[in-house]
Amino acid sequence: MALTPTLTLTLTLTLALALALALALADTPPMGEPPKYPDLDFGIHQFPGDALHKTLAHLREAGPVVETRFMNMPAYVITRYEPLLAAFRDGERFPPERIYQMMFEPICGRTFQTMTGRDHVIRRRLATPAFRANAVRKQDEDEIIALANELIDEFPSDGEVDFAQHFTQLFPFIIISRLLGIPRDAEREFHRWTQALLRFAEDHARALAANAELTTYLQPIVAARRAEPRNDIISDLVQAEVDGKRFTDDEVLSHVRLIFSAGAGTVHDAMGNLFYHLLLRPDLWGALKHNPSIRLGVVEELLRFETSVPVLPRTSAANPVEFEGTTIPPSSFVLFAIASANRDPDFFPDPHAFKLDRPPKPIMTTFGPGPRACPGMHLARKELALVLDVAVERLPNLKLLDPEAGRPVGAVMRGPEALPVGTG
Ligand code: HEM
Repeated sequence: MALTPTLTLTLTLTLALALALALALADTPPMGEPPKYPDLDFGIHQFPGDALHKTLAHLREAGPVVETRFMNMPAYVITRYEPLLAAFRDGERFPPERIYQMMFEPICGRTFQTMTGRDHVIRRRLATPAFRANAVRKQDEDEIIALANELIDEFPSDGEVDFAQHFTQLFPFIIISRLLGIPRDAEREFHRWTQALLRFAEDHARALAANAELTTYLQPIVAARRAEPRNDIISDLVQAEVDGKRFTDDEVLSHVRLIFSAGAGTVHDAMGNLFYHLLLRPDLWGALKHNPSIRLGVVEELLRFETSVPVLPRTSAANPVEFEGTTIPPSSFVLFAIASANRDPDFFPDPHAFKLDRPPKPIMTTFGPGPRACPGMHLARKELALVLDVAVERLPNLKLLDPEAGRPVGAVMRGPEALPVGTG
């Protein structure tokens, strides 16, 4: 039979298709096994600047679940938006409390974050007012604005400063001390203790000593607020009552430590990322000066574009877990790649662009959608927006002096280590 042009084309296409399929199958791991990247460790590698987003884009293409490493152990990364939403809401296959029992219980003590079921729900409701989970009060807003001004007043007068060291790394710790109602003369000491607490993994002994000092300092304040409540977070914690339950003094102290451990580092990095990305885009900084009303859009887009918690570690359940065609072995590390879901092109068109006109939906995964959603999200947003207002007004000519030094680093917590800026 003579081959007509059409038949030749059909045969060629069929062969090409068969070849492509054979190649794809050769590349596809057996059912139940995800693509593997044993050289990537999200607990150890730094992923400076774009490296994180390029790596995540590659993994997202490879599959909804891929195997990498976390602290030298196998870890399963959930890369795409919809599977990640499902995983956040699935406490059976991915029980959230386990990782927090490992990471935070030694530092904070027992808090609702390390509990499960009804205990989590009741304690979380008891602590809700303290996290400003429903609304940030006017008095808190005034404190935020006042502190931003104070820190700027202390900048060296020669017009150059490390904005990370002198502003973003201090601000979230001091504001929490003020909202707690800690006397002003103790807040730098407080900063030192809470920093040491957060470095528990690096220096156990120092963290324990700091914790003892912190506890001794706080105990009489807790007793005083029980006797005579004021308008502050410790008073909220001692007065809260749900279903006839109240916090004991020990629980109040644990939840104070939790507010620092969950609410200071996250905001410090978020603030660093915000100023880095804005100053990298002088047009945007200029637009903010002329039109301050865009600042809420800027903060929202920053939280999508460069979150301070890009890869959230969990563990899987104690039995094998089937998820998106992958079998995850019992009690494995599972990494919730928030930064990857936030740039999933199927949900966020043109995902690598910083844009202010995105529709409000789909919601980003930055604050952990589901029963564990971040209770500090309103406070975090408010801190970022108000600090931005003050900085634009007080430091209109702020300039990044060394963009390379300011690149965000890290995967579990991500922000700039230094942010050298010119203020004049
Ligand atoms: C930009 C800043 C912040 C980011 C990116 C962030 C991110 C997150 C994420 C992703 C979760 C969910 C974790 C999970 O599903 O296991 C979470 C939970 C939590 N966050 Fe935040 N957070 C921020 C600020 C804050 C602040 C300011 C506070 C406190 C004042 C706070 C307190 C908490 C607490 C206590 C939880 C645990 C909730 C639970 O287990 O029920 N966060 N946060």
